Amino acid sequence: MKQFLAIDTARLRTGHGVKWGSLPPDTIGAWVADMDFGIPPAVRRRLIDVVSQEDLGYPFWRGEDPLITAFQERMSNRYGWAPAEGRTRVFTDLIQVLQVMIEAATAPGDGVAIHVPTYPPFLATIARSGRRIVPVSFTDPGPALRQSRMLVLVNPQNPTGHVFTRDELTTLASAADSLGLVVLADEIHADLTYAPFEHIPFGSLLPSRTITATSATKAFNLASIRCAVAHIGPDDVKARLDAAPLDYFGQPSILGRVATLAAWQESDAWLADLMSCLTTNRDTVVKWADTTLGPDACRLPHATYLAWLRSPLAANDIERRAHVKLSDGNEFSEHTSIDTSSFVRLNFATSPGNLQDILTRLDDVLANGTTETLTCADKY
Ligand SMILES: Cc1ncc(COP(=O)(O)O)c(C=O)c1O
Repeated sequence: MKQFLAIDTARLRTGHGVKWGSLPPDTIGAWVADMDFGIPPAVRRRLIDVVSQEDLGYPFWRGEDPLITAFQERMSNRYGWAPAEGRTRVFTDLIQVLQVMIEAATAPGDGVAIHVPTYPPFLATIARSGRRIVPVSFTDPGPALRQSRMLVLVNPQNPTGHVFTRDELTTLASAADSLGLVVLADEIHADLTYAPFEHIPFGSLLPSRTITATSATKAFNLASIRCAVAHIGPDDVKARLDAAPLDYFGQPSILGRVATLAAWQESDAWLADLMSCLTTNRDTVVKWADTTLGPDACRLPHATYLAWLRSPLAANDIERRAHVKLSDGNEFSEHTSIDTSSFVRLNFATSPGNLQDILTRLDDVLANGTTETLTCADKY
């Protein structure tokens, strides 16, 4: 537990991480989705072993790729979903998975449905690919799905922390099935689900239409290691990818693979301690938001270390006045007509002491801010 009670701001400010490294010395970073903590001891050990052995050539393994086996075992042991054999590929990151799947499963001009607000690079990727972003309502998905060829389902959701219930997923699955959609399920935050909420892999509900993408990078604090997997359910998408040359997919390094294996196979005790710290932080933030920003300014995140807050001040103004960098709400609806400018996203994956510092700084500027009537499409 101790490793989550204090953070080393000197290390964070002088390192290569953008979250703190890019900021002036008087500003606290609570924006990009990295944690201020270290990494699981097993990951550290395995990475040091690789470096000590100077084992940094092109990756090779005998027989089945151990990363794929580890993914399959984790899905089965933790989530009760046994991914079909022979359908998982290794990628460098989730953005790459989205790019590849958009190309393999849709054509220019096709609609790609996604719940908005969402992770900004996904919106940019869909827009750049010449496909249409079709924002999906959290409460009434049908109209958007009918205009689309693909659904990108981020579950647990970023930035709201929403974990889709079995009923919500079943509704999405039956609509996707009857409309013939491909579903790209981004489940990168699944291991960060708080009890009593339950993560249900979408691939367990609609295997033949679902591409499941995940990595160890969020839950185990390894964003730099660049290693992800995707399980490809749809036969036609799989056939298209099987026909593509291997270099099309990029090649995660030995370091990325070894770190992911150590995270998934040897670091669940670390994850359990992390979740207990994050639960306390989450409750602190929600209670603070309730008092400072008003009731319903923050819905309880069911997962993730991110809080989506209605705020009377924009992130830029908060940074200028409070010296705390949050993520700007606007970015989570870019390229759409949805207005999320009254929101900011706060990353609470930090020590309780630093979180208190953040909230005190925010109090100083937000307690004097004006509360406007806030408009945001849908229930978020
Ligand atoms: C929902 C979601 N998907 C994907 C990513 C990024 O994944 P990667 O670094 O593997 O591209 C993030 C990062 O915050 C995220 O929140």
